[in-house]
Amino acid sequence: MAARHPSVRGAASARPEFVQAVGRAVDHYNAGRWRAAETEARLALGFAPADPSALNVVAGVAMQEGRTAEALALFQRALAGQPKNPFIQFNLGEAHRRAHALAKALPYFERAAALKPDFAEAFAFAAEALRGLGRGQAAEQRYQTALRLSPRLPVALNGYGLLLLRRGEPSRAGPLFATALDGMPPSHPMAPGLWSNLGVARLQLGQGLEGLEDLARAVDLSPQTPGLWRLLASSLRHTKVAPSGEMFRSVLLQLFDHDDVNPRNLATATLAVLRQDAEIDRLLHAIEARPADIARIIAEDGAVAARLVQDPLFLALLEAAPIPSIAVELLMVRLRADLLAAAVEAPEALDDELALAARLARQAFLNEYAYFVSPDEHRGVEQLGKLLDRDDLGRRPGDAVRIAILAAYRPLSTTPHAARLLRDLVPAIADLVREQVAEPALERELRAGLAVLKAATDLISVAVQRQYEESPYPRWTRCGVGTPLAFADAVRIALPHLGEGQAPEVERPRVLIAGCGTGLETMRVANTYKDASILAVDLSGASLGYAMRKTQEYGLANVEHLQADILDLPVLTERFDLIDSFGVLHHMADPAAGLQVLSDLLKPGGLLFIGLYSELGRQGVVEARAHIAARGYPATPEGVRDLRHDLMVRPRSPELETVLSPASDFWTTSDCRDLVFHVNEHRFTLPQVGQLLDDAGLEFLGLQFGHAADRTRFLAEHPALGAIQDLTALHRHELNHPEVFGDTYRIWARRSRHRRRR
Ligand SMILES: C[S@@+](CC[C@H](N)C(=O)[O-])C[C@H]1O[C@@H](n2cnc3c(N)ncnc32)[C@H](O)[C@@H]1O
Repeated sequence: MAARHPSVRGAASARPEFVQAVGRAVDHYNAGRWRAAETEARLALGFAPADPSALNVVAGVAMQEGRTAEALALFQRALAGQPKNPFIQFNLGEAHRRAHALAKALPYFERAAALKPDFAEAFAFAAEALRGLGRGQAAEQRYQTALRLSPRLPVALNGYGLLLLRRGEPSRAGPLFATALDGMPPSHPMAPGLWSNLGVARLQLGQGLEGLEDLARAVDLSPQTPGLWRLLASSLRHTKVAPSGEMFRSVLLQLFDHDDVNPRNLATATLAVLRQDAEIDRLLHAIEARPADIARIIAEDGAVAARLVQDPLFLALLEAAPIPSIAVELLMVRLRADLLAAAVEAPEALDDELALAARLARQAFLNEYAYFVSPDEHRGVEQLGKLLDRDDLGRRPGDAVRIAILAAYRPLSTTPHAARLLRDLVPAIADLVREQVAEPALERELRAGLAVLKAATDLISVAVQRQYEESPYPRWTRCGVGTPLAFADAVRIALPHLGEGQAPEVERPRVLIAGCGTGLETMRVANTYKDASILAVDLSGASLGYAMRKTQEYGLANVEHLQADILDLPVLTERFDLIDSFGVLHHMADPAAGLQVLSDLLKPGGLLFIGLYSELGRQGVVEARAHIAARGYPATPEGVRDLRHDLMVRPRSPELETVLSPASDFWTTSDCRDLVFHVNEHRFTLPQVGQLLDDAGLEFLGLQFGHAADRTRFLAEHPALGAIQDLTALHRHELNHPEVFGDTYRIWARRSRHRRRR
């Protein structure tokens, strides 16, 4: 918003040179020619040093150029000369707003509006300030006035829309964004934000395809704005649909290049885009329907398969994230076997395959070698290992591709060549060696310095620890990064229904992550709460080593790691503002005992965020566990591999379908082990959750919905005030929609201030 300018009326009695200079200054300013505007305004100030119009222009230029303190001082001088000038009042408000001082900005906007009751921008900016200060009702009134005065004012339409979105009214918000966009040129500075907000509204209304297209358009218009691409990437998570067309495909491909995007969130969208090619879709369908015929299907449709594996989008996904598709996995298993056979018997046929083999090896490492290996391949891998065990390794043609193919079967860190590979990097496989050799070595080194509270003694804890030492969960590469918010603001986003003053205002929240795993959870916490200092605890040293490497890689300075059993944490003397424990308590022998420990570690009024398995949401897993028990698959990486393969290629009961869905934890070894082979799991219904919380002296605050549209649906079906915080209503809702919370409830609770002792 450019600064607004008083007319030069009133200066009529002054010298003509002065009047002309001010006139030119204002003209230059309004045309965005800041330098020229300032020169003319300073010329005018030479005649009349306190002239408010000229001061206003100089101040406006200072504000545009980011010299906010100077702008404020100049606007103040201008205002002293013309205290009743609404434009100078407005500009002072704007200068304060740009300095992030909303409370100071507000009275100036309000005075500007009072001085000039048809000044739509003044009402709109007063509303913006009020919204930023959390005063929604007053903001709404000002937005309405602004829009009465100027029905298409973008800043008012956008701000009011955001207010309504925050209040859970996407059906009213969407049309406001759409009106603002109607006829707006794409180059307008507000266009990307408006498209993005329209996308959010549509997603909340369940209009997935349109919403994603809007978010992508925002990124396309402003590809340098991290907030826009981050929002699109996180909104793509588990999507079943993807817009068609070149724009979306190209934006999606760009998302793979960003370090602050979790590529796992892009997987289903990428598959959906690839399947927009009718022949590729047919090929994948054929493999899914007749997995035993895969050799014939590929032979008949070789050109289509080749097109798929050469597609840049496919290649980006292949090296970045586990691919949640049965057909693609079977295709990759086949491709890998063919590459292995050639590597052993006819390496000269592999000349052009290095890039693909290296990507396939990265895929295999990411999915933790979850792909099926036939007895022939086992023999081939042994042979290949021997062929590569030479002193001049890495210097002969074909070595790199053979190493890549070996790395597609087992991590290079387990081969005797590893140390030599590190010393003598082959450039084409540098990423592979980094991921498979250097990074695991760093984890071991970091782990050596890990603080250990004491060794776990509880029998279940010991068994759980063993599982995660073998299969640290989850393996991840890059994660979404956001702008952390003040604690209370972040809590209000998670729980929009909390009333004003309900979220604790804590400047530097002290957070305990109980069961941090491999650090993804830690990243989420650090990216959510500004200035949080974190104690991240886990049973598993291997998981903590991974977590330490990743937090170091992301430069998190405010995290300490500790190896401990939650059951042993009562020795801690400090108390926490927030305890975050996602997917952990349900693996303890007695989750209630674990919850009590955590509850006792909270400050009075402190918050707890826990993830607990849902009995209703996990029925597919219950079936799978029965299937595993009946057929005796061992809970080892080999058992995981065999089960996965059998489920993919043999007829399976419909109850098992959810376990193999793209959104399920089926697609890597540690995920799948965690999902269906866990040594110990409890599941809960929401009434049971209520009882657990109550017993631990905790007050239920609400559930976080996975998708915005699910929350909208709940509110539509349960309009009664307070339903969103009512476990009985939420339970009824889950009975009607068993998939609504996925397989894990995301539960918020607060330590009651006055609680009875158990
Ligand atoms: C499913 S993983 C979840 C990891 C992480 N919270 C996340 O969501 O990415 C469960 C983690 O809890 C840890 N864990 C399980 N029982 C624990 C206990 N009694 N004390 C501490 N950590 C425990 C495991 O070692 C494992 O890393």
